[in-house]
Amino acid sequence: MEPAPFFVAGRPASSDDTVTVRHPYDGRVVGRTSTATADQVEAAVTAAVAVAGRAAALPAHARAAALDHVSRRLAERADEVARLITAENGKPIKWARAEVGRAVSTFRWAAEEARRFSGELQRLDTDPAATGRLALVRRAPRGPVLGIAPFNFPLNLVAHKVAPALAVGAPIVVKPAPATPLSALLLGELLAETELPAGMFSVLPLPNDRTAALVRDPRLPVVSFTGSGPVGADIRRAVPDKHVTLELGGNAAAVICEDWNGDEDLTWAAQRIATFSNYQAGQSCIAVQRVYVHEWLYDAFLPRLVAAVGALRQGDPSDEATDVGPLISEDAARRVEVWVDEAMAAGATQVVGGRREGACYPPTVLTGVPAGAKVTAEEIFGPVLVVEQVASDAAAFDAVNDSAYGLQAGVFTHRLDTAFAAHRTLQVGGVIVGDVPSYRADQMPYGGVKGSGVGREGVRSAMDDYTEPRVMVLTGLEL
Ligand code: SIN
Repeated sequence: MEPAPFFVAGRPASSDDTVTVRHPYDGRVVGRTSTATADQVEAAVTAAVAVAGRAAALPAHARAAALDHVSRRLAERADEVARLITAENGKPIKWARAEVGRAVSTFRWAAEEARRFSGELQRLDTDPAATGRLALVRRAPRGPVLGIAPFNFPLNLVAHKVAPALAVGAPIVVKPAPATPLSALLLGELLAETELPAGMFSVLPLPNDRTAALVRDPRLPVVSFTGSGPVGADIRRAVPDKHVTLELGGNAAAVICEDWNGDEDLTWAAQRIATFSNYQAGQSCIAVQRVYVHEWLYDAFLPRLVAAVGALRQGDPSDEATDVGPLISEDAARRVEVWVDEAMAAGATQVVGGRREGACYPPTVLTGVPAGAKVTAEEIFGPVLVVEQVASDAAAFDAVNDSAYGLQAGVFTHRLDTAFAAHRTLQVGGVIVGDVPSYRADQMPYGGVKGSGVGREGVRSAMDDYTEPRVMVLTGLEL
């Protein structure tokens, strides 16, 4: 198996320090690459700095053409890319296909936004002293971006860092997650097919303990990180003067409101919640972890949920029928097991569950979980759901907010006033009405409050984040 090259300033590179990537399901070797040396990292950063001026001046058609190319090539190679994602990450192939489809659209959106990214005109002659004056507000890249990506969406969360950077003309150095570098390297291969100037992108496999130096490097003034809360907090502390975007964890909640009471409604909610607490074995920051059900619906809802979770098929992620695959590693599954065991020892009831096998942890539903248990209070990042009944919709919203996190919430209601109350009250980055919190469209602003991070991704939001406004005031005009 030939090691996949990584990319230094747009060119394929390798080192003697080989990295072996294994399938989380059965441990077989699925690919190899190598770790970038200190000199290669330095070459990537130097090239990013050197090209920054030229990159910012690239015409929109050139940036859009490169982004469209990547989108098209991902679509052409969709099956191969999906299999690669499943091989290195272990997510079921159907979810890997969904991820590729999303990355196709992330790059396509970025191409469209690159064409639209024009700035705005602002009249200044609203004041007599400014008669004949007009402001042109354009956005200029802050400088080269350091993108640090997680393992759970090894393609699309890399796309969410790379595509907006290229769309605004900012060079980017990407560090993929150590467990899942291969999808990012394939993306590097597609970027290398474009006419982007050398230095605009580098993809560097690096162990986490070598990332701190890159984070601190003053030549990379923007850091976009997706990953765990403690690492995000370390980054923020290490570089308070940099522009930092943090997409961190969550313990996303769904609320079944008082009005969501028909058989069809409850069955739909149960199926959506079952699916999205277990997709990717719960390894998404917006996987459903907590469910608050209005007390008068609880007895009708719970059996539907138990049936829907019980119907999920667990097994080999390359099987098209598999719903739930392994976690990223046996250690990750063991941690989930410990948290569930702790909750049960403290009095929780397991209404669906089973035994861990290696990296596979069975879909689990818990009720009667005592306050403060890790399965509720922390981000479980595993296929575990905690269900609780509440006396009112307002009590459910309070329970959602009783969290250190605030990424997204799902609110099952038909009522507009309840939807607006949720939107007004919930301390989150997004409220999904009539569906699970796990819904994400790649063009919409995405990010959280409290421990879930700062800043927003979503193509246009990240473009704003990677740039700053620069005003030009024109004088002596007849308007
Ligand atoms: C995440 O885990 O934060 C990303 C979720 C998504 O992109 O759907």
